[in-house]
Amino acid sequence: MIHPHTYPESLWRPSVDSLPRDRPIVDMAPRQRARIYTPLETILQEGVTSHIISKLREGGVHSVERIAMITPQALVRVKGMSEKRVEAIREAAKERLHTHSFISGTECMEKVANTYHVSTGCVAVDTILGGGIESRGVTEVYGEYRTGKTQLCHTLAVTAQMGENGGKVMYIDTQGTFRPKRLEPIAQRFGLEFDSVLENIVYARVYTHTHLMEMITPMSTAMAQEEVRLVVVDSATAPFFVDLPGRRNHSEREEKLSVYLSSLMKLSCEFNVPVLVTNQVTMDTDNTSGRYRQNKPVGENVVGHSVTTRLRFGRFLSGDYRWSRSCCVLHSPGLPEECADLQISDGGVTDIDN
Ligand SMILES: Nc1ncnc2c1ncn2[C@@H]1O[C@H](COP(=O)(O)OP(=O)(O)OP(=O)(O)O)[C@@H](O)[C@H]1O
Ligand SMILES: [Mg+2]
Repeated sequence: MIHPHTYPESLWRPSVDSLPRDRPIVDMAPRQRARIYTPLETILQEGVTSHIISKLREGGVHSVERIAMITPQALVRVKGMSEKRVEAIREAAKERLHTHSFISGTECMEKVANTYHVSTGCVAVDTILGGGIESRGVTEVYGEYRTGKTQLCHTLAVTAQMGENGGKVMYIDTQGTFRPKRLEPIAQRFGLEFDSVLENIVYARVYTHTHLMEMITPMSTAMAQEEVRLVVVDSATAPFFVDLPGRRNHSEREEKLSVYLSSLMKLSCEFNVPVLVTNQVTMDTDNTSGRYRQNKPVGENVVGHSVTTRLRFGRFLSGDYRWSRSCCVLHSPGLPEECADLQISDGGVTDIDN
């Protein structure tokens, strides 16, 4: 059992020491890693020419897996496609991936053997998460303002660059709260070069929900070209609630949010990457008494159904009158409902020091 208040040196040291200090970290290990998706060239055949493949890429389709993830109607909308071409592409993908036949549980386990976790920087939280934020899934963190959601994003932006699964971090910022300078003490804590850490961030400032949805294609293009090992969207829900407010926009908002989150889920599976999204809370009103109940995450059901793991961040005053934070697993396909305490320090998210 790992002692929750000390980060074991062994968890970081071997990988940190093996990292090159004079160039971006991503230059090393990830290049040696085998591609985790099937390249489009593997379905080159009669009816699926290299011209068609380049059209697919222009439309944001970079892998055979992606063909299996989208509907024929969506494929037809890609520029340069026709129904006949789409049929040939889908047939070739079906044959290549055997998508319409069954596999055993053992084979399924082998397929997901390269799933990995990105450490939150806090042993207690990593422990309840089974190692950290998991790849092949979307993890949602919701909580009141000041609970440390953005601080967690900054910490993960550094820890995702470490170890054998280390690589680039894609950071989508919808609230203008990303502070590159904030990464300096976090990088220092983990013994990484600040300049290299910054070089490994792929950043986009996004202002509207339309812009956010349009970013899916550039995201998949960048993920096909670079070794992205973590995607952060802080916040994934705010633009939908700002641009489509109130009851009158309820169904359009839910529909678009659900499409957006489903796109993130597909990206995370296609590229075997952990996706972390943040979400805000709203005061829940009791319809019968009109009284306020506890905070609830915005877009409660649609977000809850669309993400793989749901975490709630809270804030409380600890014994020495310092603000501490808590992280609770509320919903997960494989983790029990548990809580752990954490603290925000200059070095990012850490365990509580007593
Ligand atoms: N360098 C630092 N050292 C210690 N604590 C810090 C540092 N920088 C920020 N914090 C703490 O982090 C808190 C802000 O947390 P954060 O921005 O992650 O909140 P949030 O949950 O993202 O809020 P919102 O919902 O408004 O986006 C500050 O109130 C401060 O207590
Ligand atoms: Mg924030």
